[in-house]
Amino acid sequence: MTIQSVEWNQETNVLRILDQRQLPHKVIFIDAVSIEEVWEAITFLKVRGAPAIGIAAAFGLILWSEGKQSNQLELFLNELQAKRDYLATSRPTAVNLFWATDRVIEAAIQAKSVEEAKERCVLEALAIQEEDRNTCRKIGEFGLELLEDGDTVLTICNAGGIATAQYGTALAPFYLAKESDIELKAYACETRPVLQGARLTAWELQQLGIDVTLITDSMAAHVLKTKNITAVIVGADRIAANGDTANKIGTYGLAILAKAHDIPFYVAAPYSTIDLNTVSGEDIPIEERAAEEVTHLQGVALAPDGTKVFNPAFDVVPNELISGIITEKGLIRGDFKDRLQALQNESVH
Ligand code: MRU
Repeated sequence: MTIQSVEWNQETNVLRILDQRQLPHKVIFIDAVSIEEVWEAITFLKVRGAPAIGIAAAFGLILWSEGKQSNQLELFLNELQAKRDYLATSRPTAVNLFWATDRVIEAAIQAKSVEEAKERCVLEALAIQEEDRNTCRKIGEFGLELLEDGDTVLTICNAGGIATAQYGTALAPFYLAKESDIELKAYACETRPVLQGARLTAWELQQLGIDVTLITDSMAAHVLKTKNITAVIVGADRIAANGDTANKIGTYGLAILAKAHDIPFYVAAPYSTIDLNTVSGEDIPIEERAAEEVTHLQGVALAPDGTKVFNPAFDVVPNELISGIITEKGLIRGDFKDRLQALQNESVH
């Protein structure tokens, strides 16, 4: 099995987190033993990618609950809710964080004692991780149906195995292709300012033995025009009820470029990334991150001191630019609003 972004040790109650800030040069794991360490890991992108953030946050609640020595159920549940709200302050855009922690709370509410609540929380967090593995595999299968042997896909950021429980979303078709000896090639946008494409996607696809070519973000138009790209496939942090999709900054530009070059633009995401309570992209909160991510590169200043910076971590692709949304429930095309709503109660697990 490939490297896991997050791994719960049930014997020691320790959450092992792959420190993605250190990649590709060092493969280092952090042993988190407190909810504060998980908050820190999410905020500072040691664990990142919408599904992996959700899984880490779910186990963050477990780290808190395991240390709780009370037998007052109501108090336990109130504090659990407060801890969920605390984790929610780490990153605002990926809805999976809220979805996963709410699932843990829902599980705890069914319990008759604190002991039972704790057990239910652990089982739920483990289930979220296991389901994500199966979900991403299905996304890979549906994604691969859109591609043929020899095709080339352009992607941005890292929506790979390390951004999920396994396989990834946008990169899942590459894992499935590998298993069937189908050859796919990739172009990876470097993804300024945090370089998830250069540091993580190039590394992950190399590990998998995929032919991957790294480009700077500004080269995308030229590559789409000249390199026979079959499709653009990206991940998502939150998909609104009408299909508008928030993903890594630069994704909106790629969608416009794909349209201009008549190349299909697909979003690959688990159904848990779809937020039917968010009406449209305008309602998706967009995280703004520290100016240093733009003014500095690995600690070296690129811009004059005091330069004014705008650093949104995500942008929103309007639904009309999306050719299809690849989920574990299949490929969704056409009227996203109706289709996303209709699929809500369709289970695949
Ligand atoms: O800031 P990041 O690295 O967490 O942003 C990640 C993305 O934008 C991914 O494309 C998205 O979360 C999907 S990961 C399967």
